[in-house]
Amino acid sequence: MDTGPLAIHRHGPETGVPLVLLHGFPLDSRMWDDVVDHLGDLPVVLLDAPGFGASPSPAEVAAALGREPDPTLDTVADAVAETLRSMEVERAVVAGLSMGGYILLALAERHRGLLAAVGLLDTKVDSDPDEAHANRLRVAEEAERTGSAAVAGMVDTVLGETTLTERPEVVARMREWLSEAPGEGIAWAQRAMAARPTRISALEDLEVPALVLRGAEDGMSPQAAAETMSRALGGPVELVVVPRVGHMSAVEDPEAVAEALRALHAAGLAAERV
Ligand code: MLT
Repeated sequence: MDTGPLAIHRHGPETGVPLVLLHGFPLDSRMWDDVVDHLGDLPVVLLDAPGFGASPSPAEVAAALGREPDPTLDTVADAVAETLRSMEVERAVVAGLSMGGYILLALAERHRGLLAAVGLLDTKVDSDPDEAHANRLRVAEEAERTGSAAVAGMVDTVLGETTLTERPEVVARMREWLSEAPGEGIAWAQRAMAARPTRISALEDLEVPALVLRGAEDGMSPQAAAETMSRALGGPVELVVVPRVGHMSAVEDPEAVAEALRALHAAGLAAERV
């Protein structure tokens, strides 16, 4: 029975090594829906981060784990691990986009044995420079006062130039999701991301197949960040740059992202069999 602390959305068969997808900030697992449509019959598990989608609040998730409610991605990583254990998943191919990637790095540090392969999408391994750190704390305070208004402006930074000029339906959907983002989840996640350390050694210790993917127009996770992660990873790495998309590659070109994730899942399964 599924009893983990996080909300679970399953697609495809319920047996086999699943592909687990961790969403970006300040969205929820719906951001993967179009990708899932292109994943065929893979066993897929989408999880909502604490305070987002159908998951309980961060304080409730922390309490369920016997942890303090302080904002930290370690709590999210433990919640992901505990949720997978509740589903009797021993090994999984896990991919995360942006904040999902930061969570995956914490998972790699704390629960490496769960990981059969990893996908790091539009993300980076380094902690925040001072200015970005201060900005997160400012947005957290604003979200406590104004809710989703604190993130409304993100539409212009998370979508690529091509999407912003040529794909009004994607822009409208992103605006709608941002308008639904919950203030408590935004504030807690911003503080948790601000507190995250650089996790290079977690990458070095990962000897499983890896995908590093970014949108060519992603201004938030630059090519240099993708190359740093690729170099640090301890196993075989595929570095993919998706043209004409920005930071939300999975929303902007779900077919290309699904193709890369399918290849990662196959590489993870093949490595498990060796
Ligand atoms: C995300 O897409 O998850 C965010 O851009 C992460 C961040 O703010 O660093």
